[in-house]
Amino acid sequence: MTSQPVQESTVVGIVGAGPAGLMLSHLLSRSGIDSIAVDTRTRDEIEHTHRAGILEQDSVRLLTDTGVDGRVLTQGSEHEGIELRFAGEGHRIDFKHLVGASVWLYPQTDVFIDLANARERDGGDVRFGVRDTKVLEVRDQPVISFVDSEGIAREVRCDYLVGADGSHSICRHEIPESLSTQYFKEYPFAWFGIMTEAPMSAPELIYARHERGFALISQRTEQLQRMYFQCDPATDPGTWSDEMIWNELQTRVSGGGFSLKEGPITEKVVLPFRSFVAEPMRYGRLFLAGDAAHTVPPTGAKGLNLALQDVKVLAEVLDAAVNLGRTELLETYGTRALERVWKAQQFSYRLTTLLHTLPGETPFDAKRQLGELSSIVTSTHGSAHLAECYTGWPTAQL
Ligand code: DHB
Repeated sequence: MTSQPVQESTVVGIVGAGPAGLMLSHLLSRSGIDSIAVDTRTRDEIEHTHRAGILEQDSVRLLTDTGVDGRVLTQGSEHEGIELRFAGEGHRIDFKHLVGASVWLYPQTDVFIDLANARERDGGDVRFGVRDTKVLEVRDQPVISFVDSEGIAREVRCDYLVGADGSHSICRHEIPESLSTQYFKEYPFAWFGIMTEAPMSAPELIYARHERGFALISQRTEQLQRMYFQCDPATDPGTWSDEMIWNELQTRVSGGGFSLKEGPITEKVVLPFRSFVAEPMRYGRLFLAGDAAHTVPPTGAKGLNLALQDVKVLAEVLDAAVNLGRTELLETYGTRALERVWKAQQFSYRLTTLLHTLPGETPFDAKRQLGELSSIVTSTHGSAHLAECYTGWPTAQL
């Protein structure tokens, strides 16, 4: 005989305990609002998922000013610019000089660890490793049902439900198709990502355009580096030897005597590449946040930054609704969040098309692309626009 699910209730039920779900839970607790977050993954699984590594300055502020952790400032590193490499030469885009801003290299896994520790420290209710998660009656009387990591079936009734459950979101599908518009853009390539035990090759990130395709030289620590290169989406990473990978990367960044410092490759992955937005981000008492509502191509590393900004806005309107009765402000969530989402979509798309080669492209296309790159690096206005987008936009105010 199966026993009845254990009944619980909370103010905000959060599906997904990645950075978006945990940051929301953290911000709500600062406003005295209870939440329960659930995730099918274990904490260990999330900690070992490698994602992008660049935080906009507002994302850094959100971590430090709200008391998550200052570790980003001591263990992350501030980057005041990037290098754009094309036609065999490097060109520095100096963020500090151009727009008075910078970004921080601090991997998403560390952001997750800091948030999970902060939730534990502050007594937050986060259930990792659950299974059979379902959401019911999301519009009017939301319930999350799941089986917890000890095998106990539970049902959590909540006043508000947040889908922070990533690009394979179950919550997104609760919005009736007739009310939701989904915007997609597919790209005919993917990224081959590696982790390598090698010293840094350059002090800042390098975004390179080459006839053979895009390459990105990023970093993790003094001894561990992250690099990517454009590849066919059907690529099986296991068929690429370390030697083939280094040849490809070295070719794509070559010129002016520059070369990469090589080392053993400890991880090889092929990353999907697409742009996606679902509008609206709200349906009754259900709100979508982060990758559940939108994904950007990795170029420019906007995904995590967008997710953190979504939940910052969402925490503000939930605070106003729960603590001040200003439920009309819930309506402003999507509009405020989407303004930034579409700016980030545009930036990620632009940086992608600026640096990647398209199958079947003509010599005209290649020359036009070089013309565009040149018009950026030789113009203060062109460079400043790129710097502004890379370092992030202010959040729309309430
Ligand atoms: C990283 C990934 C990106 O997509 C990017 O634009 C910059 C850095 C990274 O993983 O370090």
